[in-house]
Amino acid sequence: MKSLLIKNAELITMNKQEEVFTGDIYIKGDTIKDIGKNLHYPKADRIIDASGRVITPGFIQTHVHLCQTIFRGKGDDLELMDWLKKRIWPLEAAHDADSIYYSAMLGLGEMIRSGTTSIVDMETVHHTDSAFQAIEQSGIRALSGKVMMDKGEEVPAALQETTEASLQESNDLMEKWHGKDNGRIKYAYSPRFVISCTEELLREVASLSKISKAFVHTHASENRGEIAIVEAETGMRNVEYLNYLGLANERLILAHCVWLDEAEKEIIRRRRVNVTHCPGSNLKLASGVADIPSLLNAHVCVSLGADGAPCNNNLDMMNEMRLAALIHKPEHGPTAMDAKTVFRMATIAGAKAMGMEHEIGSLEVGKKADLVMLNLNDFHTYPSYDVDTISRIVYSATRADVETTIINGKIVMENHQLKTVDKDI
Ligand code: GUN
Ligand code: FE
Repeated sequence: MKSLLIKNAELITMNKQEEVFTGDIYIKGDTIKDIGKNLHYPKADRIIDASGRVITPGFIQTHVHLCQTIFRGKGDDLELMDWLKKRIWPLEAAHDADSIYYSAMLGLGEMIRSGTTSIVDMETVHHTDSAFQAIEQSGIRALSGKVMMDKGEEVPAALQETTEASLQESNDLMEKWHGKDNGRIKYAYSPRFVISCTEELLREVASLSKISKAFVHTHASENRGEIAIVEAETGMRNVEYLNYLGLANERLILAHCVWLDEAEKEIIRRRRVNVTHCPGSNLKLASGVADIPSLLNAHVCVSLGADGAPCNNNLDMMNEMRLAALIHKPEHGPTAMDAKTVFRMATIAGAKAMGMEHEIGSLEVGKKADLVMLNLNDFHTYPSYDVDTISRIVYSATRADVETTIINGKIVMENHQLKTVDKDI
């Protein structure tokens, strides 16, 4: 097992005390073995002097679509249902195994370069195996799944699947990929959204998730047009319907949740459902501004995601953190979502959403070594002695400031250069 000692960095731990201090971190294999000041491990396989650098837990994006990376810019200036019908679904239908692989690799490279170390990802109906191969090779930690779409008048024929085939293919992928590379890769059932799924399929997913404890990842209450269709078809609001089918629990990851009513919020709170806030996507697709302060006040686990590249044109988590902090200020005041709150959403809350708060999301002894080294010494991050480092990251850092990304103890990017995972420290 290789070991790595990183010395003299400013460590943003995001541990329970949220300690920030200048010190060292010692990694052996995939695990953080020691953190403190003046650590002494002269036999470490490698020692890095990180003076003047900041180390944070890796960012955790809990809603992305790797297969959409190569559609960036397709469907700019459209609303959700038109965007899906006119641009995204036809493009997904045209994907083949190679194009999904390259789309995934491009998205993964972009996210690793900007310090994302874990993702919750949703693919399209076919060729998801290619995306898993890209995930495996990139070294990222991922909870991913094939999209399920067994109904929907507007869904193109090439994306329609039978209920049986959707379940069978999902189970086959689960069998092949769940738990791979010592648990770095996991499978999540991914019914796209209520509009594209039969009640039978959703009930079966609920039952499979109950038995296997697998996660379920879906979109809900993103757009008013979408909600109107769900209400016309089911007589219920999205979250009410998911709850009625037995899906609302701590293994459910719900992307967007822009237009929740009070009853839906209460279900989410009571059933400990995880919400992913996608501020960039919600703005660009004109979906709306999700009422995140009220969810946080109710102690709901809210994490962050960039969504697909064409929803946002940017997969950089620092962009998402900045938008999350900014969009509530006009209505709720300057501290409604302060820098530390959104930094928690990007790290420890993401870990909770993935059911991995004991493994990732903070720099703590015994946790997996998923971390990011930033160089904040450029003028745009104002290296002033009295400015809080988390504020500097949230309000001014970009992916150009991320120098090195480590996932599962492996250096997957160093000095801005991506590496393959089979390279040793
Ligand atoms: N709702 C259903 N599918 C999608 C998708 O691909 N992206 C977004 N943003 N919302 C969706
Ligand atoms: Fe999405």
